Amino acid sequence: MALKFITEESFKTQAKDKKVLARFDFNVPMDKNNPTKIADTTRIDEAIPTIKAILEAGAKKVILMSHFGRPKGKIDMAYSLEPVATYLAEALGMEVTLTETALDRGIKTLLGLNESKIVLLQNLRFHPEEEANDRDFARTLSTYGDVFVFDAFGAAHRKHASTYEINAFFKNKAYGGLLLQREVESLDRVTNNPAKPFVAVVGGSKVSDKIKIIEALLTSVDKLLIGGAMAYPFLKAKGHTVGNSLCSDEDVSLAKRILGMPSKNKIVLPSDHIVSLTFGGAPIDLGQTNIEEGQIGLDIGPSTLANFNDYLATAKTVLWNGPMGLFENPVYSKGTFGIAKTLASLQGKAFTLVGGGDSVAAVNQSGLASKMSHISTGGGASLEYIENGTLPGIQALKFGID
Ligand code: 3PG
Ligand code: MG
Repeated sequence: MALKFITEESFKTQAKDKKVLARFDFNVPMDKNNPTKIADTTRIDEAIPTIKAILEAGAKKVILMSHFGRPKGKIDMAYSLEPVATYLAEALGMEVTLTETALDRGIKTLLGLNESKIVLLQNLRFHPEEEANDRDFARTLSTYGDVFVFDAFGAAHRKHASTYEINAFFKNKAYGGLLLQREVESLDRVTNNPAKPFVAVVGGSKVSDKIKIIEALLTSVDKLLIGGAMAYPFLKAKGHTVGNSLCSDEDVSLAKRILGMPSKNKIVLPSDHIVSLTFGGAPIDLGQTNIEEGQIGLDIGPSTLANFNDYLATAKTVLWNGPMGLFENPVYSKGTFGIAKTLASLQGKAFTLVGGGDSVAAVNQSGLASKMSHISTGGGASLEYIENGTLPGIQALKFGID
């Protein structure tokens, strides 16, 4: 069975003059200094074309739903979707009515009125049934729409009522949105027969979070370039000293396991570093692989960047997940922004995909986002997709739920 998207004629026929229920991932980061200001609107911006397409198909009403943060199954106005409703209304140039909760009695009345064409259900995670993948909760949600659209790629790795179980109530009436379509097509170019050479750049911290993706990638990549705090456990496992750099014993054992795999020769590690005597203190260009006692590694060094760039120069497919250092601090951003610049220079020559919260933030900050082939809106979701080739929310949409 193939995944059906809203571009199909059958969607247009089914949506005309009907109520369309659509799940998005409006879980956007908020400004730390202003709790009502959205820090990065990408996930909402990426949902707009789908909402417009649903309206263009002639839907009578569009009922939008999403989770927001982790309110743990309780009503907590700190996690209200109000800022999202305000932003959406502005972006669409239409009124957006936010319901009191996803279950309140007023919803049915609202859906019977001619006005309020766009309704946003309040945070689904105010109800514990959402994360419990509860059938009755999914059934109630399903009564709000005649047709279902799933466009919440960033939450497709969650088996929740609105991402999974809800499909039980929309047999042959469930479609993927335009963002989901782009995410899946882009990730498939990396997971299914990627154009070679295929080079992956993996950074960030904790090996344990990324062990599965590293193992999965080692079977398909030609080179796996490891930078950032991810590199220290690997260097230590190979007998190098890492000084006071971030490096847990657990991660060193995981790194040893990976270095024992037959494809270990595909791994390329840093040969030099930018270090400091305190976290975020004055930078020292170390010029060697071994980090001395008291020093903390905070970025890859210039020789490492040059070496990584050599591998990237001839790549036809590049996956980038995780920064090369403490890029939030300009003196430790050269490695991360250097990789962004190299990927940008591959525009038109290679397929470049960036996934994972921090590397996406870095690419956005570098101002080079438009030069990447695809930037995933999913952090955990894009990683799990690469590991498993699919996600629970996509499987349920594709095959339905009994
Ligand atoms: C995310 O931002 O990771 C998604 O919106 C899913 O949210 P969660 O990690 O809280 O399940
Ligand atoms: Mg998450």
